[in-house]
Formats: sequence, C-alpha cells, structure tokens
Amino acid sequence: MSVWAVLAAAGSGERLGADRPKAFVRLGERPLLAESLERLDASAWIDAIVVAAPPGWEEPAILLAEELGCGKVSACVTGGATRAESVAAAVAEVPLDAAAIAVHDAARPLVSDDVLERLLRALNEGWDGAVPGLAVADTVKRVDGDRIVETVDRSALRAVQTPQVFVADVLRGAVAMRAGEPPAWTDCSGAVEAAGGRVKVVAGDPRLVKVTDAADLERVAALL
Ligand code: C5P
Repeated sequence: MSVWAVLAAAGSGERLGADRPKAFVRLGERPLLAESLERLDASAWIDAIVVAAPPGWEEPAILLAEELGCGKVSACVTGGATRAESVAAAVAEVPLDAAAIAVHDAARPLVSDDVLERLLRALNEGWDGAVPGLAVADTVKRVDGDRIVETVDRSALRAVQTPQVFVADVLRGAVAMRAGEPPAWTDCSGAVEAAGGRVKVVAGDPRLVKVTDAADLERVAALL
C-alpha cells in the first residue's frame, strides 16, 4: 500500500515574532522544516511527500529538500490562507492510486517511525483514520466569559497531535472544500469525523511538541 505524506509548512508563525515564516526559523543550525522533512523522507512507512510552503517560499523549500537529499519529495505547492486550504492544495497533488495519506505539521518537528507505525496499524485494522493523542493532565473547565460553567471529565479527553493518517479516498472527500465556505475543523480528523468517518486515537508521543513560540523552539532543540 502506498503512503503519501502531506507536510503543512505554510503558516506565517506570527506568534514566533520572527522575520520569516515559522517553517524557516532556525532549529539548531537548520530551518525548522528540515527536521520533519528529513524524518519523513527517511521513514520506511512513507513513499512520497508533498510540501505546502508559504507563498513566495516554494523555491527555498524545494532547495532545502534537495540539499537534504530528500528524494521522496514529489511536489511543493503554495499554501493557502488557512491550514485547511494548505492541506487541501497538497492533497490535490497526491495521485489517485495512493492508499493512505499522512498529514503532518512542520510545526511538530520530532515525528517518529514508532508513531507512524501505530497509526498505519490502525488503518490496517479497518479504521478510516488514526490520530496520536495524549491524556490531558490539567483539569479542564468550560467557561462563559470569566465564569466557569462546567468542569469537564478529563478522563474522556485527548489532546491530539500530528501526523494524522487516513485512507486516501476518505481524506480527499472530507477536505474537498466548498467555495466561499470556511471549514469548521482545525485538524484533518475533524473534517473526517464531520463527514462520518471512524477515526481511532492511538498513543501519542510527548516528543511531538508543537512549536508556537520561542520557548517551544528551545524545548524542541533540547530534545534533538
Ligand atoms: O499556525 P499553526 O502552528 O497552528 O499551524 C499548524 C501547521 O499548519 C504548521 O505546520 C503550519 O505551517 C501549517 N499551516 C499551513 N498553512 C496555513 C497555516 C498553517 O500549512 N495557512
């Protein structure tokens, strides 16, 4: 079965306060994007990769892939204004004979084969998709303005990460966007769930830290 990776790297990363998009800020000596790109390229579970780059950064993304010797990179598309649009543009480049698509965020550099294996095993079990999730350590409240209206049972909650893996046709159907209609989902699993898909949550990886601000970059650098 052929597994394609879609690497969402088109965010602006405003919260990092850098002079360039998040995928190109330095993680150690290299752009952040290098870490996830190299790891996906080296993975035995991934056959080909499509990158969604920020507008104007397509060429640096392609050059980076070449420099790293990432021969599985098949295309680099221009990302959209939202993550959903970037993912949809990249998914459109995945050939129709692909069996599965793994959608990953460049903002989570430390993707591992272990997590990819857990996710793909779920597809082999017959699920439409699988996502890595971690138990929620904090007590979670639902609020209305400043007022707490409910304490949520955290035992039934998971904080989900990427990569998220789906049967290719299921993901294609779910992310197809209707013109003028903003998607109501913030991750691909949300789109597949809304379309009626069955998505399994598998054990996540605490090392899949998401880089949002400068402190996150330091945390990830310490884990390299
Ligand atoms: O902004 P945030 O960190 O939540 O974005 C998650 C991932 O989605 C990042 O890897 C980012 O590059 C990507 N993204 C994208 N296109 C956008 C916005 C975000 O590919 N327009």
